[in-house]
Amino acid sequence: MEKQSLLFIGAGRMAEAIIGGLFRNRKEDLEAVYVSNTGNMERLYALKAKYPVHTSENWKADAAKSDVIVLAMPPSAHEEVLQELSGVLSGQLVVTIAAGIGPSYLEERLPEKTPAAWIMPNTSAMIGKSMSLYAAGKAVNTEHREVLRMILEAIGEYEEFTEEEVHLLTAVTGSAPAFLYYFAETLIEAAEKLGIEKEKAKKLVIQMIYGSSAMLHEENNPEALRDQVTTPGGATAEGMKVLFRHNLAEIMKEAVEATNRKARGE
Ligand SMILES: NC(=O)c1ccc[n+]([C@@H]2O[C@H](COP(=O)([O-])OP(=O)(O)OC[C@H]3O[C@@H](n4cnc5c(N)ncnc54)[C@H](OP(=O)(O)O)[C@@H]3O)[C@@H](O)[C@H]2O)c1
Repeated sequence: MEKQSLLFIGAGRMAEAIIGGLFRNRKEDLEAVYVSNTGNMERLYALKAKYPVHTSENWKADAAKSDVIVLAMPPSAHEEVLQELSGVLSGQLVVTIAAGIGPSYLEERLPEKTPAAWIMPNTSAMIGKSMSLYAAGKAVNTEHREVLRMILEAIGEYEEFTEEEVHLLTAVTGSAPAFLYYFAETLIEAAEKLGIEKEKAKKLVIQMIYGSSAMLHEENNPEALRDQVTTPGGATAEGMKVLFRHNLAEIMKEAVEATNRKARGE
């Protein structure tokens, strides 16, 4: 792969997660990194102080010099930015990381044959541990895929899906961290109800989730791990019965479906 010049339109937390990961892991593959936003200069100065990036308020000139344009701004800003971008593109790969904006949305608004892709990271991108989904548009070729992998690897693990699948799975990888954090909150509350002070309850629950996640990651088998903890007829089994009785599986399915309905605008 030739050295790449990337332009980030949007300089928020997710742009920084990718930029940080790229400079940590793939510095040798970077020709230049340009970053722009709506004019929040303080944010651009802060990024420039941390990474060797070029910052500017006028991204149009930088777009012409770039191989890849990463749209790291809110979904609502896309319509206008894509319109402006259309006028300056000459075959660059355009990647959005915005929720709900698939490659077909980009293709409809960009010049014909523009290579377009959609990366859906999650919040763990901030620590290089995202489970990212991605979908490639019609004009994405082998070299573009290499560039996509470089960006994806900067923030964690990734899997390719169809555009429709990324829409559906955003609930599972993008929204479900909130479900898990809520699970942590409820367990902390349960420990507090047993008379434990909040900070201690937090430590117990957070380390329990951290350790259990590490086991899951290592063993790759949630069911077997659950069995290991659950002696038949034992105390944990009694607790599990409550989760079954209240049908946690159904609650999760409903939460995923509700997330998807809202994402579709229903
Ligand atoms: N954070 C996550 O966990 C996460 C996960 C998956 C996907 N995403 C997606 O990633 C994108 C960025 O999220 P974020 O968390 O990084 O947001 P953020 O921290 O709020 O940053 C948004 C950035 O976009 C810029 N911006 C807004 N409108 C713009 C425009 N019209 N032109 C140029 N720049 C514009 C903002 O610039 P100013 O500061 O100048 O306003 C800011 O730098 C969003 O589309 C979000 O859906 C985020």
